[in-house]
Amino acid sequence: MMSYTSILKRITGTFVQDGAGVNLSRIIGQPRLRNLDPFLLLDEFKSESSKDYIAGFPSHPHRGFETVTYMLHGAMRHRDNQNNEGHLRTGDIQWMTAGRGIVHEEMPEQDNGLLWGFQLWVNLPSAQKMCNPRYQDIASHFIQEINLTHGGIVRIIAGQYQDKQGVIKDVSVKPEYFDVRLTEKDIFEHTIEEGRTSFLYVYLGEIELFDSHEKWEKIHTNELAVLDPGKRLKLQGEKAGVLFLSAFPIREPIVQYGPFVMNNPQEIEQAINDYREGNF
Ligand code: FE2
Repeated sequence: MMSYTSILKRITGTFVQDGAGVNLSRIIGQPRLRNLDPFLLLDEFKSESSKDYIAGFPSHPHRGFETVTYMLHGAMRHRDNQNNEGHLRTGDIQWMTAGRGIVHEEMPEQDNGLLWGFQLWVNLPSAQKMCNPRYQDIASHFIQEINLTHGGIVRIIAGQYQDKQGVIKDVSVKPEYFDVRLTEKDIFEHTIEEGRTSFLYVYLGEIELFDSHEKWEKIHTNELAVLDPGKRLKLQGEKAGVLFLSAFPIREPIVQYGPFVMNNPQEIEQAINDYREGNF
């Protein structure tokens, strides 16, 4: 019988302002958790007040990694320098592989009401940092779901859960990205493959994790818990929402300069020059 996973580390987000003045919570990519290989950043934006988000993220570049936007509620518009345009609405996911470079804007498409979602940055291995940019823009109804016994739902964004496959394909770190919505009495179980980096982030309510001592451990709202891989994950919660993420670490040097993430300072210099010269 496989033992249950334990919490290796807990972290809560820190308030930051990014873009042209968007207020958000940064959970990965802050002093207490610089990164969690291969994850470079996790931001949660959540506000009912347009002044917190209306400024959006005007034109800015990315190189060397992937940005993943998941909307829990509201609408955003995305547009890049190659005239690609996408609309993200409640429940949609966008997996953007920036590769050798993209310049884009991400703007709210609403001027009031709740805007709530996440942006995750996933690193690329050195051999793929300069690949061609690619989009996987997926509308909510294409995301497969598993219904739990008592009304809970598992939305499978990436990876496999039971007999269903996530809609996001061909990502080098083989991510699992599940949005798990638990109601009273529901139990969510999943085996975390050996060698993966994995974590939970509770965005609604609180959950309990059945740990290696066979005791229920609480994880609170807005708390991220890093998990021990190669073990069994077992959760319960009442009106709770939690993201489960896992992926294989890349184990390469990370040199980051804002929206450029490369392996050494020379490559960062090259990125800055290429961007300045309009070669993205
Ligand atoms: Fe961006």
